[in-house]
Amino acid sequence: MQDQRRTIEPDWYRVSFDALYPIIYAHRTVEAAREDAYFSIQETGIERSDVVLDLCCGNGRHMAHLLKKTDRVVGLDYSPHLLKLARRSLGGRACLVRADMRCQPFQGIFDVVVNYFTSFGYFPSEEENLMAVQGLAGALKPGGRFFIDYFNRSYTEKNLEPSTVRNHEDYEIREHRWIDLESDRINKTTVVFKGGQEISRSGESVRLYSDSEFESLLAKGGLRVERIFGDYSGADCCDPTQPRMIVVGHKA
Ligand SMILES: C[S@@+](CC[C@H](N)C(=O)[O-])C[C@H]1O[C@@H](n2cnc3c(N)ncnc32)[C@H](O)[C@@H]1O
Repeated sequence: MQDQRRTIEPDWYRVSFDALYPIIYAHRTVEAAREDAYFSIQETGIERSDVVLDLCCGNGRHMAHLLKKTDRVVGLDYSPHLLKLARRSLGGRACLVRADMRCQPFQGIFDVVVNYFTSFGYFPSEEENLMAVQGLAGALKPGGRFFIDYFNRSYTEKNLEPSTVRNHEDYEIREHRWIDLESDRINKTTVVFKGGQEISRSGESVRLYSDSEFESLLAKGGLRVERIFGDYSGADCCDPTQPRMIVVGHKA
């Protein structure tokens, strides 16, 4: 366990979303994204004429649903592996861009920016996490709306499973999780085995935010929070029974 903890590099996000991501997160499918996408469409009021950015779009599983509402959806991600899968599943219907969310290239052109499934808080310093917020805000038109689906800190702390073992096809996936209160982060190492042989070892480290901390980080970047939900049924956040912290608001 101690050895595995040492394997998480500060720039883990550059390499952890690789070709094995679809195995490790096999349950995160286009079908599983349907409810999230429709909830975000409803809460941000996406209309047919809106231009939408899926920031950290991954394999495009939410874009598949967003594209039913508007033709004008752009997906941005850093992982060439996941962008390739998005291209394969969406074909020519979507515009896909490879960029780092800290310095994304768009300025003031989107009506709505969406960010699903904890695609935030990855950077080791708060300056860099703020750069990601500023990037999101910068991409929005004045008054543009945003939707960020993050985890609820109190739920995560209460329900942390330190070790799990799962199987998918021929693969065994062993995950170890721990909270480091000194750095205020939740960390995870994932080791994948195939045929009894270790084939991959990766790490993830994500910042723990309370709702008020998150709201003030967003405010520093020029984003105003309107509502925070605890799950995709629209429950209030953020007591320890609600798994998510889904933040909806607009560019101030
Ligand atoms: C947890 S996955 C979620 C992907 C997608 N939103 C979903 O729900 O399936 C996080 C995504 O963030 C992307 N990512 C990580 N670091 C990034 C960065 N610095 N800039 C842009 N995208 C990044 C990863 O490549 C990955 O696709």
